[in-house]
Amino acid sequence: MSRRIAVTGVASGIGQALARQLTEAGDTVIGIDLKDADVCADLGTADGRDRAVAAVLEQCAGLLDGLVACAGVNAPSPLLVSVNFFGVTALAEGLRPALAAASAPRAAVVGSISGTQPVDDEVVAACLADDEAAAVARSAAVMAGAPQKLYPSSKAALAQWLRRTCIAPGWADAGIPINCVAPGVVRTPMSAALFADERMKAVMDRAVPMPLNGYAGPEDIAAALAWLISPANSHTTGQVLYVDGGAEVSLRGPSVF
Ligand SMILES: NC(=O)c1ccc[n+]([C@@H]2O[C@H](COP(=O)([O-])OP(=O)(O)OC[C@H]3O[C@@H](n4cnc5c(N)ncnc54)[C@H](O)[C@@H]3O)[C@@H](O)[C@H]2O)c1
Repeated sequence: MSRRIAVTGVASGIGQALARQLTEAGDTVIGIDLKDADVCADLGTADGRDRAVAAVLEQCAGLLDGLVACAGVNAPSPLLVSVNFFGVTALAEGLRPALAAASAPRAAVVGSISGTQPVDDEVVAACLADDEAAAVARSAAVMAGAPQKLYPSSKAALAQWLRRTCIAPGWADAGIPINCVAPGVVRTPMSAALFADERMKAVMDRAVPMPLNGYAGPEDIAAALAWLISPANSHTTGQVLYVDGGAEVSLRGPSVF
């Protein structure tokens, strides 16, 4: 029987590529996005997330085989924590009971190589405390002095949430692995502005060196996500898998582990 997989950010980039791969493999995708999706909802608001969860539960009749959270934004703003962190965690928590009802459920989220860069500790702490109002307020303050820290903060918080969540009651003990794919630079509409500006591209190349095969395409990231939510992944959970052409190793060196 066809698996039912919910995919956020399905209208563009990585989410769109993943939906195509899953559909071609015979899965039924329940796509979520702001528009052009089965479920149109704003994951940057609590109300939008609630409506997304309710609509997915209705479409999957309470039994969901997989969830992949791809939706995200990268422009510096307090919206970064609302979409990239709370838009992922609230959906995962809201859909967890439907995942637990499946025989071989799987979940995955999309992080970023940026999660290894300097963060604002208060933003990260507020996210992990599940305090969106505090995370947004602190983000507004950070905008004035170090806006470049907000995207890394949202992705670092997500990776830390993942490691706490994967072995919390209701996840590993319910047979639900949840992992993260952290891309380097991917050619999607999100990164198009960087490619359009030679100066920005040079900065990006220095910040994210990708000696293995250069920039990725959205289908490369989708393939890794597809494996993490496949039945073949029986024992991997709580991991951040860098699909980044060697960027993380280049930046952090050999002695991380
Ligand atoms: N492109 C890159 O270089 C790159 C690198 C590292 C990580 N990422 C991450 O990959 C993920 C996918 O990015 P992409 O490159 O495919 O970008 P994209 O802009 O092509 O697609 C993102 C999708 O998310 C949706 N989205 C944004 N805000 C939303 C909201 N409030 N509610 C619902 N949907 C919303 C957009 O409508 C869009 O369809 C993001 O989490 C991003 O942070 C991308």
